[in-house]
Amino acid sequence: MNGVTLQGIEKTYRVDGREVRALDGIDATIERGDFVSVIGYSGSGKSTLLRILGGLEEPSGGRLDRTGLEGRTGMVFQEPRLVRSLTVEQNMALALKHTRDPRKRRQAVDSSLELVGLAEFRRAFPGQLSGGMAQRAALGRALCREPDLLLMDEPFGALDALTRKRLQSELVRIYRLTGMTVVFVTHDVTEAVSLGRRVFVMERGRIRDEVPVPFPYPRNQSSADFIVLRDRVLAQILSRDEGVSVAI
Ligand SMILES: Nc1ncnc2c1ncn2[C@@H]1O[C@H](COP(=O)(O)OP(=O)(O)O)[C@@H](O)[C@H]1O
Ligand SMILES: [Mg+2]
Repeated sequence: MNGVTLQGIEKTYRVDGREVRALDGIDATIERGDFVSVIGYSGSGKSTLLRILGGLEEPSGGRLDRTGLEGRTGMVFQEPRLVRSLTVEQNMALALKHTRDPRKRRQAVDSSLELVGLAEFRRAFPGQLSGGMAQRAALGRALCREPDLLLMDEPFGALDALTRKRLQSELVRIYRLTGMTVVFVTHDVTEAVSLGRRVFVMERGRIRDEVPVPFPYPRNQSSADFIVLRDRVLAQILSRDEGVSVAI
């Protein structure tokens, strides 16, 4: 199988003399081309899982295999994290500093600007962009490296509802166009079910449920089937305890 396999992944942090178990045995498979939404209470380990998937952190235990997805990983966070003194296109080019050929760099930046709809704002500075445009730029910066795996940590969490909806549709369009593998962390159930082919429900450092979402894209959030599934996922989360397990 081509994709990411996680076996017994654990992560323990030491905080103020105590051990906090952020991940407590994650077993999961993410196939190449899949779109997985990850949802759960704050503190359930979503961001830790994403950072481990992205290689930003090492697990304390367990095994992670990436087969056929050995290429680049892109990450998008809740804040755009753009360099304020650089233009949109310069921010994107920064992600391509290892691409020696300037022509290739320009092509990658150009096509990424097109994908996220920012071609006309390529010379704008971050301070001149709205929140939605800044997140588009952050997405474009991740995309210009043509990632095999795109990891997103509540990327639309700080946006207003309308902008958020638009960016959700854009992301689905880009996902279908590129065929990349996406892992998308959110605490919004509607967003999780609108975007993912599967929803991982996390609780206390574990994946408690994997819910398949059988609806074709683009999804109709007002359809009866959609609402039934969304409410089921919500009920699953609400029936669980909040918080993380703490071992002394
Ligand atoms: N760098 C860190 N140092 C210490 N504790 C951390 C660190 N990152 C996360 N944690 C703890 O691990 C648990 C899971 O955190 P996190 O993965 O950020 O959850 P989520 O993204 O679901 O809100 C929390 O209890 C958090 O306080
Ligand atoms: Mg988080």
